[in-house]
Amino acid sequence: MVAIREVRAANSSLKSSKQSLTAVFTGATSGIGKATLQAFARHIPHPTAIIVGRSQKAFAPELEHLKAINPNGTYIFLEEDISLIKNIDAVSKRIASSLQEKNLKIDLLFLSQGYISFNGRETNADGLDTSVSLRYYGRVRFAQNLLPYTAPDARIVSILAGGQEAKIIEDDLDLEKNYSVGNAMGHPACMLTLSWDAFAAQNSDKTFLHVFPGLTSTGLLGRSATGVLGFVMRWVVEPILKLTASRPEDIGERMLYYATTGESGKGSWSLGWDGTPKENEVLKGYRERGFKDMVVEHNERMFERALAR
Ligand SMILES: NC(=O)c1ccc[n+]([C@@H]2O[C@H](COP(=O)([O-])OP(=O)(O)OC[C@H]3O[C@@H](n4cnc5c(N)ncnc54)[C@H](OP(=O)(O)O)[C@@H]3O)[C@@H](O)[C@H]2O)c1
Repeated sequence: MVAIREVRAANSSLKSSKQSLTAVFTGATSGIGKATLQAFARHIPHPTAIIVGRSQKAFAPELEHLKAINPNGTYIFLEEDISLIKNIDAVSKRIASSLQEKNLKIDLLFLSQGYISFNGRETNADGLDTSVSLRYYGRVRFAQNLLPYTAPDARIVSILAGGQEAKIIEDDLDLEKNYSVGNAMGHPACMLTLSWDAFAAQNSDKTFLHVFPGLTSTGLLGRSATGVLGFVMRWVVEPILKLTASRPEDIGERMLYYATTGESGKGSWSLGWDGTPKENEVLKGYRERGFKDMVVEHNERMFERALAR
């Protein structure tokens, strides 16, 4: 694994090779996304960041912080609740307009929205589980919508569970009948890598990364759970995990490194925490069977169904 010192050194030298970059961040209002956005603002001399989040008001202090980190940056906040597909389509059009106004293409699409539901399947207006939609369907939809606006050698980065792809429940791809906390993690992680494979097959000039960030102390578990479990997560589990978890600022630097410098070439890569490509036996099996085509067909069906409701 590349040591954090080397990661920071490589990021510091980005200023000599990448004077200006344009990135779209979804899920950067906290945690790993926010830390990566800050690293992006810190290391790119003239960064343009389009940030999609639920509340402009809540993000206002962070916008000021970004301007303080790098006054030469352009930071555009677009307010939208991206838990529904139609909202993702609407904000994707606004992103496209912002880019066209400035004659820019996306160099980096960084997707990290999501939480883990401990309350069972939370079916939303699209008929999808909200937490799975944020971590999977919505990210696929953003990539699909925004690929036409990306630069030739763009990187599309999704922060989830690269290398931890698990068996897919093939007769229940949207987990309507088989929702559990465990299934809602490994199953969409595997579908995400296969969706990235499908995009890569159609976009040979781009890099698609599915990254496992490792345990990072962002407060994600405490925010994900409610009631007594939420209390236990916040006051017992999180403080214990904090002893071994990485600091978001280190992971932000590391994710920027993977998104700009890391060794992965074009194509679709599932990266573990150490940044090395992983292909476990489960993923290998689905790749050999060409299962990505089933996943793409399912994605399309879910998008059509969501938009028809
Ligand atoms: N932290 C870890 O140890 C870890 C490990 C492995 C994988 N991951 C995955 O990495 C991703 C980022 O994790 P993180 O720790 O950075 O999480 P985080 O700090 O909780 O940030 C999650 C982001 O998702 C957004 N979000 C949450 N619920 C939403 C909703 N209902 N609608 C719209 N946006 C919503 C949040 O927006 P608001 O600010 O508006 O709430 C925030 O921007 C997650 O998918 C997580 O599963 C994390």
